[in-house]
Amino acid sequence: MAEAEAEATAVADEPTAAEPNSAEPADGAMADGAMADGAMADGAMSAAPDSDPAPDTGAATVAVTTADPAPDTGAATVAVTTADPTPPLGTRLEPLLELTGVSRRYGSGEAQVTALDDVSLAIMPGDFVSIMGPSGSGKSTMLGLLGCLDVPTEGTIRVGGHVVTAMDDAERSRVRGREIGFVFQQFHLIPHLDALGNVETALLYRGMSAKERRARALASLERVGLGHRHDHRPVQLSGGEQQRVALARALVTEPKIVLGDEPTGALDSKNAELVMGLFTSLQSPERAIVLVTHDPHVGDMAERRVRMRDGRIVSDERVS
Ligand SMILES: Nc1ncnc2c1ncn2[C@@H]1O[C@H](COP(=O)(O)OP(=O)(O)O)[C@@H](O)[C@H]1O
Ligand SMILES: [Mg+2]
Repeated sequence: MAEAEAEATAVADEPTAAEPNSAEPADGAMADGAMADGAMADGAMSAAPDSDPAPDTGAATVAVTTADPAPDTGAATVAVTTADPTPPLGTRLEPLLELTGVSRRYGSGEAQVTALDDVSLAIMPGDFVSIMGPSGSGKSTMLGLLGCLDVPTEGTIRVGGHVVTAMDDAERSRVRGREIGFVFQQFHLIPHLDALGNVETALLYRGMSAKERRARALASLERVGLGHRHDHRPVQLSGGEQQRVALARALVTEPKIVLGDEPTGALDSKNAELVMGLFTSLQSPERAIVLVTHDPHVGDMAERRVRMRDGRIVSDERVS
């Protein structure tokens, strides 16, 4: 599947087609040069699981899930998440995202790589998290799992209390479309659609009228300061503008969870600052923002800093 499509479906509420099933994405949609960067964005990489689909280990996934998302009454939900012995510090809120004993391996035999090694992590509403660590330490793999773009080899992932590792692809895609906005380093806009069309892709398949879709997409573009560019295609926009369109696309569904994989990595410092300003403006007590970054300035802006090494979390500190 082409990267752009993968991303479009990642943000859209589309069923099974959203799951890339090959480690080799087609490059048809890249022809326009909008994503000409030969280095594939990390996000897309983890979005493309290798050929042996990670088995969902059924055991931990029991019934639990289907109830209402985001319940804020403590007791019942705590009971539901008992598998994880790490309750959030000093709060009765339920995690928005939760990894429990999650591992992700690629390939098999001697060539097998353990990209993520028995990681547990709970992201709470209101969290603004940076994930840093050397290249290859598993940051993108972890973010892809948090973002429901990929499934783990082992372990349990919950999004808004739902055990997504117990879901089929279509169900997981729906959760992703409803709860998560994802921004990649290389934007992953669809080259033949204008800015408005790109943002609208996140609202497809929701039973929304075309008129309402356009109105919402335009409002989202205005929010990132690009209303006047709504009819420009990606190739007609600067990198910074493209990333803002990608952000508008991620935000148009008003997701509780916003994930960015090196979202400023392809931008000059001025545009990086602009995009970071937009990310910080998204903070709210109900929302979690998680950014993978190499940039210490970006990392410093986060209130919770997670460091990874060799597929493991080596530190997780809150700074206030
Ligand atoms: N689709 C894939 N197929 C095979 N190996 C992969 C794939 N994606 C990531 N890896 C490997 O997993 C490890 C972690 O990669 P990644 O999560 O992209 O790290 P980071 O984002 O920290 O640079 C690396 O060794 C990488 O080569
Ligand atoms: Mg990466």
